[in-house]
Amino acid sequence: MVHETTNTNLAPIVLIGLMGAGKTSVGQCLARRLGLHFIDADDEVVKAAGCSIPEIFEVYGEKAFRDVEQRVIERLLGEERIVLATGGGAYMASRTRNYIKAHAISVWLRADLKTLVDRTSKRKGRPLLNTGSPHKVLKNLMDIRYPVYGDANIIIDTGQEEIKSSVDKVIAGLLNAQQNLESEFF
Ligand code: S3P
Repeated sequence: MVHETTNTNLAPIVLIGLMGAGKTSVGQCLARRLGLHFIDADDEVVKAAGCSIPEIFEVYGEKAFRDVEQRVIERLLGEERIVLATGGGAYMASRTRNYIKAHAISVWLRADLKTLVDRTSKRKGRPLLNTGSPHKVLKNLMDIRYPVYGDANIIIDTGQEEIKSSVDKVIAGLLNAQQNLESEFF
C-alpha cells in the first residue's frame, strides 16, 4: 500500500503545477506522511548553478535555466523513495515531460487563478512574474500550460484549502492510481 512506508519499489512522485500551486508545501507534508525524502528541483538547480534563479535568468537567460533544470530533474529521478517538487515550467519541456512519464508518477496540483495570484504575492524570486502583472502572466501561463499538465497521472484540485486536505487527496489519488498504473511503479 502506498501509505505504508515499507514499499521500496515506489517510483518517484513528481509534483507539477503552476507557481503558487503549493508543490513545495504539499510535497514536504506528503513526503513526511509517506516516509519518503522530499526534494525541491528549484533548490537543486540553484545548488548546481551556484546562483539564484533570478540571477540565472538575468545573467544566462531562461534557456540556460531550462537546460540545467532538465539535467537536474533527470538526475533526481534516478533516486528512490522521493517526492520531487518541480518548477512550474519543467513539465512543459517535452524531454523532461517524457522522462517524468517514463520514470515517475506525476501529480498535478491544479489551482485557480485567485489562489495562484494570492500565494505568489507572498514570495519573491520568480522572474517570470516580473514580466507583467502577475495576474496576467499567471492567466496566460494557465492557458498555455494547463492542457499540457492535464496528462499527469493524477490530478488534484487544490484551492484555498489546508495543506493537509491536499495531501489527503494526493494519497487517495495515489491509492486509486495504484490499481491502474503499471505495477512497476509501486
Ligand atoms: C517557473 C517556476 C518556478 C521556477 C522558475 C520558473 C516557471 O518554480 O522554476 O522561476 O516557469 O513556472 P515554482 O513553480 O516552484 O515557483
